[in-house]
Amino acid sequence: MDKLLIEGGVALDGEVAISGAKNAALPILCAALLTPEPLHVENVPHLRDVTTMLNLLGQTGVSISVDEKLGVELCAADISTPAAPYDLVKTMRASVLTLGPLVARCGEARVALPGGCAIGLRPVDQHIKGLQAMGATIAVEHGDMVARAGRLRGARIRNDLVTVTGTENLMMAATLADGVTVIENAAREPEVIDLAVCLTAMGAKIEGAGTDTIRIEGVERLHGARHRVMPDRIETGTFLVAAAATGGRVRLTQTRADILDAVIGKLRECGARIETGADWIELRMNGTHEAVSVCTEPYPAFPTDMQAQFMSLNAIAKGTATITETIFENRFMHVQELKRLGADIEFEGNTAIVKGVPALDGATVMATDLRASASLVIGGLIARGKTLIERVYHLDRGYERIEEKLSRLGARIERVR
Ligand code: EPU
Repeated sequence: MDKLLIEGGVALDGEVAISGAKNAALPILCAALLTPEPLHVENVPHLRDVTTMLNLLGQTGVSISVDEKLGVELCAADISTPAAPYDLVKTMRASVLTLGPLVARCGEARVALPGGCAIGLRPVDQHIKGLQAMGATIAVEHGDMVARAGRLRGARIRNDLVTVTGTENLMMAATLADGVTVIENAAREPEVIDLAVCLTAMGAKIEGAGTDTIRIEGVERLHGARHRVMPDRIETGTFLVAAAATGGRVRLTQTRADILDAVIGKLRECGARIETGADWIELRMNGTHEAVSVCTEPYPAFPTDMQAQFMSLNAIAKGTATITETIFENRFMHVQELKRLGADIEFEGNTAIVKGVPALDGATVMATDLRASASLVIGGLIARGKTLIERVYHLDRGYERIEEKLSRLGARIERVR
């Protein structure tokens, strides 16, 4: 199994192009299920989760071709098997994004119920409740959610909590429903907007994406379209934090600053100088940085997907920071690993108290989930000596060619077996 070996102590310096957003690409690929015509998706990141999603869509009967320029063409002319089996769902919860489109298009779907995962319980009750409000019957049979419906009908749905993939699943299902669906307490994440832009290009009628109330007027059928996936704001944020933590300088291109306000604000607070343009962000950090406290909340507040990276940043900051996680109940698995590098972190409930230490020291650590592994990479970049990160397949789920991109910034990082 692949491992990453990092020799820390280099201040990152250089330019990196940001890839397409994983969490926009995954639902957009599922949107192909809604039409018998081809959907051409550009700027699809080359990631393990994307490969898993393409395998899953291929198993349903979607024909897929990938070109050399990160473009994927999907055509769901015939869906032979409207199902997502457990062996794929258990490796990637986002497989549940097939449920809404499949039941809307085929009138039936069998999608394995996701179990617990490394970052928390993550139930899908809001997805189910919304589809039931649109007229689907959903039963659990042998561990699968089995959904059946004639044509779905529009409904007013109020989600009990803000759920990103829940909002996306219901929005996709509603595009083909009979009548108007209103989703209240909807997620406002930029990836929801990107999906809405793609669906609109396919002929859907959607208003309010990016606000907490989305109105979808169902249409008889959707058609083929071409869509370019937005830049990955979490990859962008991860590189910014890596540069800040090493006291370096980075220019990120093919990205957007306007979807990273909370992260950029926190980086400025810790002492980084940041300039932004239409599609680039530049960060410079001179000398050491101050501790910054963060609390995760739904967009536009500070993202849970950046919490682990800020833990590493604070590990060697001047002062003490608190990091509060409100979205997932078990997303602190990286803390024990960062402690192996010498970080001083204690817990009070869902808050981690990070006391900055002068330096971390390299050690062997184990990645437990995607963003935890990103925090360990940052830990390795700032630690003295060598850090060996085990189970890097977690990292490959969400970061495209990360060791290549970091090497280009001067990092001493290599993949070993
Ligand atoms: N929740 C429920 N019931 C539901 C749905 C969600 O109780 O029916 C709870 C979850 O257990 C969690 C909270 O609501 O406590 C928010 O979960 P959400 O549904 O928003 O998460 P998600 O849609 O499963 C997406 C991203 C995650 C990201 C979260 C939060 C994708 C494919 N995944 O997950 O990304 O952390 O939103 O922003 O979009 C990652 O990229 O590393 C990642 C985990």
